[in-house]
Amino acid sequence: MNALDTIRQRAGHFQPRVAVVLGSGWGGLTEHITDAIQMPYKDLEGFPQPTVAGHNATLWLGHIGGQAVAVMSGRKHGYETGAVDGMAEPLRVLKGLGCHTLVQTNAAGSLRLDMPPQSLMLVTDHLNLPQRSPLVGLDGNARFVNMVNAYDCKLNQLATQIAQAQGATLFEGVYAWFLGPQFETPAEIRMAQLLGADAVGMSTVPETIIARHLGLRVLALSIITNFGAGMSSENLSHAHTLSQAQEGNATASRLLADIIAALP
Ligand code: HPA
Repeated sequence: MNALDTIRQRAGHFQPRVAVVLGSGWGGLTEHITDAIQMPYKDLEGFPQPTVAGHNATLWLGHIGGQAVAVMSGRKHGYETGAVDGMAEPLRVLKGLGCHTLVQTNAAGSLRLDMPPQSLMLVTDHLNLPQRSPLVGLDGNARFVNMVNAYDCKLNQLATQIAQAQGATLFEGVYAWFLGPQFETPAEIRMAQLLGADAVGMSTVPETIIARHLGLRVLALSIITNFGAGMSSENLSHAHTLSQAQEGNATASRLLADIIAALP
C-alpha cells in the first residue's frame, strides 16, 4: 500500500496543514504535540530509513496549539547515499494529506563570531554549494522553480515577532549547504564567509527545493552547535553537534511550537 493510503487508514480524515522536519537537537518539539498518532517510517512506503544517530524515523500526526501538523522526526541526507531526492516522496505525501507549509529545522555551524553555539538562526536564503538538485531527471516546465523568496518573508516576519514577544534572540542569515558527511576545512569555511553565508550545514536545501517545486511555503530554523572549522579551538564531531543541540533544545522547541501554532 502506498504511504498516503497507509496514513489515511491509520489517521482517518485528519488533515495536517503544516509539515515539520526535525533535525538534530529539535526532537523536543514532539513534547508539544497533542492527540499524537505515531507511525514508524518503516511502515510508510518511500519514507527514509535514517542511518544517523540522533535522528529518529517516526512520522507524528497531531496538533501543536490549534495547528494540525505532520512532524517528520528524522530526514534523509544527501551524504547517506549520494542521492539528494530522498525527501521528495515523503514531502509529496504530506502535501497530498493537506500540508501547505513546510517548517524545517537543523543543526548548523556558525560563520559569525557574534552568533555563538546555542544561538537560533532564521534561514533567510541559502547557498546550494554542491549544486545538486532533487529535481534533476524530472521533466516539464514546473521543474524550473523560482527560488526568490524561497524562505517565505511573511512567515519570517511572523517568526521574528514571536521571538521578540518571548524575549528570545533570533538571528537571521544565509545557510550554506555542504554535502558532507565530513566537516568543512577551514579554507572552505573562509570561502563560505566570503560568499556571504552565515551558517553551514549538511541538510535542508534539498527539501526547500522539493517544497518550492510542490508549492509549499517554507520556514527554516537552525540551532547553532559550533563555530565553523578553524574559527575556534573546539573539536568538531557528530557527538559534539548532538550534545550542543541537546542543550538548546527546550528553548528552541518552545519557540518553534509557538511559531507553528501561529502560522496562517
Ligand atoms: N558543518 C556542517 N554541518 C554542521 C556543522 C558544521 O560545522 N555543525 C552542525 N552541522
